[in-house]
Amino acid sequence: MRKNIVAGNWKMNTTVPEGVKLAKEVNDAVAAAGDLKCDVVIGVPFTHLTAVKAVIDINKVGLAAENCADHTSGAYTGEVSAPMVASTGANYVILGHSERRGYYGETYEILKNKVDLALESGLKIIFCCGESLEERENGSFKEVIKAELADSLFHLSAEAFANIVIAYEPIWAIGTGKTATSDQAQEVHAFIRGLVAEKYGEQVANDTTILYGGSCKPANAPELFAKPDIDGGLIGGASLKAESFMGIVTAF
Ligand code: PGA
Repeated sequence: MRKNIVAGNWKMNTTVPEGVKLAKEVNDAVAAAGDLKCDVVIGVPFTHLTAVKAVIDINKVGLAAENCADHTSGAYTGEVSAPMVASTGANYVILGHSERRGYYGETYEILKNKVDLALESGLKIIFCCGESLEERENGSFKEVIKAELADSLFHLSAEAFANIVIAYEPIWAIGTGKTATSDQAQEVHAFIRGLVAEKYGEQVANDTTILYGGSCKPANAPELFAKPDIDGGLIGGASLKAESFMGIVTAF
């Protein structure tokens, strides 16, 4: 059976000392909570990975980078490669976030390369997809999501695909306080699971974790997570305080 996961996405927030403090708080809260019904992951800036890794129990709190380069090494000033991320002890990378697609021009093809390099480095991937408000309103959102997944992920073998977690994040719900209703999210999650089933079969589809992201908070997480195809969340704003993040972690 698939895993439930609650993953934080800190984005470009916190200095290293602030991030280490927050990571420690999350780690301690997870340890104190005992048996949780989900895995916990924190996605942190590149600069924080090594220091955060040193203060968490990686068996209890997974560690994600928020991006990686589409090359392995060489003359790419300012970039951070998947092997570099893996060498910090991080075990996940978030790829395809709408902020990276939208602000940094990440295309399906670039993301496909990043996916391959991350998997080669042994990282698990939280792969984001989701439509804009315009695409939601003009009814093209399912085609958009299908293309985002098919063109960057569906070249993978079923074995490789087992290392993919999908995050559905409607862009109009990210950081806006406007959550998709649990029914809207469930509809898309079921659609995504159907796409995975068409490509890889029912077994792989049933084993694939699909997270919801976009203004997820302790108050709305229980209703979202109660839906059959919503297996957790990718949490931005509410992951920046241990208390609100843990409020979501314990929502199952
Ligand atoms: P949000 O961000 O929870 O602040 O809406 C979610 C995300 O972008 O991953």
